[in-house]
Amino acid sequence: MTTARREKTWQDLIAVADLEPGDATPALLGRRELAVYDTVDGIFVSLARCTHGAANLCDGYFDGRHIECPLHQGLFDARTGQPRAAPARVPLRMIEARVVDGTVQVFL
Ligand code: FES
Repeated sequence: MTTARREKTWQDLIAVADLEPGDATPALLGRRELAVYDTVDGIFVSLARCTHGAANLCDGYFDGRHIECPLHQGLFDARTGQPRAAPARVPLRMIEARVVDGTVQVFL
């Protein structure tokens, strides 16, 4: 038995007007919990769950570049997903994103 895989497509995620300016905003796409970061370099999106444990990064502190996990204060670069401070070691899964007509879209 083979399972057909759905092709990735651009999908609407959230209106830019609904983002928390300069912060991390939670957004759902189906059952996926995503984090939308309004960074100094534009909009970036990752899976919302910390790669270290069961925390939603949107509950953490965001300085426009880095998101600090609310549980153990692991630090990630929200633009690349790279860990910047322990105990974070595994990069975030970043989701390709763009803004079209005032809507954040993700390629999933
Ligand atoms: S759960 Fe995020 S740093 Fe531990």
